[in-house]
Amino acid sequence: MSLLRWPWGSSEDLTAQRLQPACAAALAHIHAASFAHGWDEEAMAAMILDDMIQGDGLFVAGQPGNAPVAFVLSRCVLDEAEILTIAVAGRWRGRRASLRLLQHHLQCLAARGVRTVHLEVEEGNTPALRLYSGFGFVRTGERKGYYAKADGSRATAVLMTREL
Ligand SMILES: CC(C)(COP(=O)(O)OP(=O)(O)OC[C@H]1O[C@@H](n2cnc3c(N)ncnc32)[C@H](O)[C@@H]1OP(=O)(O)O)[C@@H](O)C(=O)NCCC(=O)NCCS
Repeated sequence: MSLLRWPWGSSEDLTAQRLQPACAAALAHIHAASFAHGWDEEAMAAMILDDMIQGDGLFVAGQPGNAPVAFVLSRCVLDEAEILTIAVAGRWRGRRASLRLLQHHLQCLAARGVRTVHLEVEEGNTPALRLYSGFGFVRTGERKGYYAKADGSRATAVLMTREL
């Protein structure tokens, strides 16, 4: 567990911890608010219980509970991992929560023996692209028309990779 103190002196501190099944409802809520096609509570619980999936969340320190303010899930196979999703609850966005969360998550992946991390991100998702670029992920390709958007249009997926 690691503690994040906001550099500008907020009284709210966040701790990074492994996700537990009891978090599933909160994850589904954040996911539904973040993506056109949300994953439900049952799907979230199954992923948390899957030994091949590393799931980490950020929680408000001193408020034990099952409601992270941000989370990330990655599937691990041998020494490779794929980030399946990362999302921050609305009011916590733009406050570097994802930076701290991803830093912790990559450390956890490395501790599991992961050496290469892959991900897909929608072209035009500027916060996510900036986050990943800042962490040293490099663009390795794209899949045109990969994402189905809520308005019926389709968007390109950018493929990115980073060695740990
Ligand atoms: C993508 C997401 C996880 C980023 O989390 P966050 O904690 O809000 O982002 P941060 O505050 O750490 O900022 C990350 C980078 O994005 C930039 N950024 C943040 N909000 C932005 C905005 N609205 N427009 C443009 N850039 C933005 C920051 O400046 C930072 O870049 P920098 O380091 O080059 O300055 C969050 O926006 C989110 O949950 N989005 C919905 C789900 C999603 O798209 N997930 C990614 C799927 S691949």
